[in-house]
Amino acid sequence: MFASKSRLLSDRISYQLLLLRNKGSTASCVHKSTIIRANNTIRYFTKSSITNEKLTQKQERAKKLLEEQLKSPYRLIRWAAIARTEQFQKGLTKYLVGIYIVFFLYGGYIMRKLFNREKELEALLKKDDKDKNQWEKLREKELDKDQKLRTRDELKLKQYQLLKEEYGIQNFDGIVIEDYEDTKHLVERITGQTLKEDDAVLEQFKKEQQVPNILPPRDTTDFYDSKARKYDSDIGMEEKIVFMGSKRKWLTSHCKGDVLEVSCGTGRNIKYLDPTKLNSVTFLDASRNMVEVTQEKFRNEYPGFAKAAFVVGKAEDLIDLDKKNQVKYDTILEAFGLCSHKDPVRALKNFEQLLKPDGRIILLEHGRGDYDFVNKVLDKRADNRLETWGCRWNLDIGELLDDSGLEVVEEKRFHLGTTWAIVAKRKGAAKKKEEIGFIEKYIGSSVRKRANEFIDHDDKIANQQKTDLPENKK
Ligand SMILES: C[S@@+](CC[C@H](N)C(=O)[O-])C[C@H]1O[C@@H](n2cnc3c(N)ncnc32)[C@H](O)[C@@H]1O
Repeated sequence: MFASKSRLLSDRISYQLLLLRNKGSTASCVHKSTIIRANNTIRYFTKSSITNEKLTQKQERAKKLLEEQLKSPYRLIRWAAIARTEQFQKGLTKYLVGIYIVFFLYGGYIMRKLFNREKELEALLKKDDKDKNQWEKLREKELDKDQKLRTRDELKLKQYQLLKEEYGIQNFDGIVIEDYEDTKHLVERITGQTLKEDDAVLEQFKKEQQVPNILPPRDTTDFYDSKARKYDSDIGMEEKIVFMGSKRKWLTSHCKGDVLEVSCGTGRNIKYLDPTKLNSVTFLDASRNMVEVTQEKFRNEYPGFAKAAFVVGKAEDLIDLDKKNQVKYDTILEAFGLCSHKDPVRALKNFEQLLKPDGRIILLEHGRGDYDFVNKVLDKRADNRLETWGCRWNLDIGELLDDSGLEVVEEKRFHLGTTWAIVAKRKGAAKKKEEIGFIEKYIGSSVRKRANEFIDHDDKIANQQKTDLPENKK
């Protein structure tokens, strides 16, 4: 064994010497194959045989490492090792074809679903509004990307589903579910059955479907009167943490011409106003003490601005308050006010009446968020919030807007959807150039267009049939 090793060594040395001697002239031929005589034996010793040997050692090491990794306690290392095995690599094509088939089938399933949805929406859009039952209207809202499904709509759709699946009701004609109607009450009303308090189906429904804890509205004037002088210091840190300053900047950036700020509070938006864009500004709040703080702040900030008014009054009474004045506004803004009004929808309707035809209502409000886990917290802490801040922070602001009849031009959501930034206009008022988005401008809603084409087509046929009728049958 020792002898053979030393022979191998001497052969290698001879080979290296030979290489040196032939360097330059015949190097290439030596590289390919060299015959070395040693101890009467002929050995073929080439460079490639040396590298082969190294390669084999390397392969051995890699094989060993792979075997170790296949037994690794860590899943990722094990998977990476499996992917390197010969067996896996051979089977890869099979797996790829399998994955491709799964994707193909899934894609087909999704396409079919989308196609069916579009067909259903088309049929609903074709139907006259007065002929649709509540479920059909909600379903249309759910399918149409141009419409927004609100919290109460989602709950109602789930309640309809429950009526269908658990109580076998197939025809929803004549059924109207009230906003946030108690599900037990609803089922009993529709089916005529009496359900137990701990009915298993209802318990399951409650578990799966979160029912918002919307507290009744209340007058908060006294609350804010007592809070006025410490309001800024109490709320300051909370606002800093969530960078509310930038949102207030967004709000006031829309202010121009004659401006009305409702629920002005302590005038926290004043420092973001650009007085050069304003003709006049009116601040209104139900709390006298809050208005006083606003007035002090405004006079300090813009001492030369004369056309400023400070009014104590409620948003719900705006029309009466403004009767003598009859001023119409270019911009009506409100920050975190709707949540503390007794009748927020009435307030919004008043805003619409006081708006110039091309005026805008700009709102920065807090309300329900985009996620269930967030809304669960808001609902759970609703009582606490009302006590501490006098506001109902879990309202769906979109519902208030829908009920007011205003048209939303822009709706942005921040802080997990709990901060609502809204630009709204009077119903039917034209959109401004900068408010028309790219998609709306160039593509529009294809489904709506197609539905309108159908309606036009049907109308044309009906008219044609009428003209074809003999005179006495018309
Ligand atoms: C949460 S504070 C917001 C104050 C201020 N807008 C801000 O951004 O800090 C709510 C304000 O709305 C006022 N408010 C509540 N109900 C009102 C109503 N019906 N009409 C006018 N102001 C009202 C309160 O007095 C209070 O100043």
